[in-house]
Amino acid sequence: MHWRFSTSRSQKVRLPHNYDAIVLGAGAAGLMCAATAGQRGRKILLIDHADQVGKKILISGGGRCNFTNLHVAPDRYLSANPHFAKSALGRYRPEDFIALVDRHRIAWHEKTLGQLFCDGSARQIVAMLLEECPAAAVDIAVNRTITGIDHADGRYRISCGADEASAPALVLATGGPSIPKMGATGFAYDVARRFGMKIVEPRPALVPLTLGGEETLFRALSGVSAPVAARAGKASFREAALFTHKGLSGPAILQISSYWRHGEAVGIDFLPDRNAGWLKEAKRARPRSSLRSILSDCLPTRLADALADQAALPGELGNQPDRMIDAVEQRIANWQFHPNGTEGFAKAEVTAGGISTADLSSQTMESRRLPGLYAIGEAVDVTGWLGGYNFQWAWASGWAAGQAI
Ligand code: FDA
Repeated sequence: MHWRFSTSRSQKVRLPHNYDAIVLGAGAAGLMCAATAGQRGRKILLIDHADQVGKKILISGGGRCNFTNLHVAPDRYLSANPHFAKSALGRYRPEDFIALVDRHRIAWHEKTLGQLFCDGSARQIVAMLLEECPAAAVDIAVNRTITGIDHADGRYRISCGADEASAPALVLATGGPSIPKMGATGFAYDVARRFGMKIVEPRPALVPLTLGGEETLFRALSGVSAPVAARAGKASFREAALFTHKGLSGPAILQISSYWRHGEAVGIDFLPDRNAGWLKEAKRARPRSSLRSILSDCLPTRLADALADQAALPGELGNQPDRMIDAVEQRIANWQFHPNGTEGFAKAEVTAGGISTADLSSQTMESRRLPGLYAIGEAVDVTGWLGGYNFQWAWASGWAAGQAI
């Protein structure tokens, strides 16, 4: 058996048949797992079907990789078991990844809301992770199509055409199906199912929402953005929302999309900084003004016009009864949108759902049923907020498995 590989490492080498662990997927979680285990002296095969490692890292954060968030906490992750992520996130923290980045002299900055980005390029993060994989311990094989996976006699055997490799541990790190055109697949789910693990229904998350019916009126606002508070169920986010030609996007909407379920409304407060009663105060202070002109003082003009049209409060505010003024204020504070869907996996930054945490150890990410089988990163039913949370989960879960294999 000869594994041949091409990465930034220079020569092609012959790889041994037997490994301590095989890691499927050389993305954020797989690279971290291989580096951690390799540094512990484990012999690792890291294998990917893409032509290079860490492709999502390279495009992340607009090419600057929002690699972690200073405010990481378990309640900023969605999962059927909200406690599952605590252990891994607690043992490998943002400070640990920042220390690694600092050791590699990669300059970074906080952009907003605790989000840390490279000053330079996401390429530095991929290069750092590759450097962290000891060449003597980690064999990296890209451009490989996995054609078979078997488990017998305590060993996992994988084949790629005529080539085979085996190990007592197999790590599923092939991520979720978001952005298929980048090579993302539901492969981890297929393998997990085959080994008897349950899958929490995968769904697009951190994804734009689409509007239909009468709400297509808002498509005319395409390109307009405003700071809002967006709500779905009990979740609420104060960030910018953006109207698009299909519906709603922007950070506040991407965040809320992870919590939104089909059939539910999304409430938007277009003036989240205003105290209750502000419109009545405006009526007293400027009775000759129209709602349109009051709104256009604090919102983009096109948005102010659209809301004033919809609110149908004609004429001067001073001529309107207070109860009408109150009703309009409440509508602006909790405008009900009824999305008819999302832009789907093609546009979703992550996949929510995935391999059920019920089948995994939260300490090691190992299957409770099948010794030696691990799942990490986005493949698992743990999904973070926008802003570096998902990479931190990839690092933390990859590190946890890397300590165990
Ligand atoms: P990841 O997707 O990184 O890696 C999976 C690997 O498995 C890939 O290399 C893939 O090629 C490989 N693979 C898939 N199927 C395979 C198969 N059948 N056989 C072999 N290999 C296979 N997060 C964040 O925290 N900050 C950010 O700035 C961003 N920005 C961002 C931008 C965009 C456009 C997207 C799409 C996503 C983000 N994210 C993000 C999310 C982040 O990229 C994501 O959470 C992590 O990459 C997940 O890491 P994983 O290693 O689990 O999967």
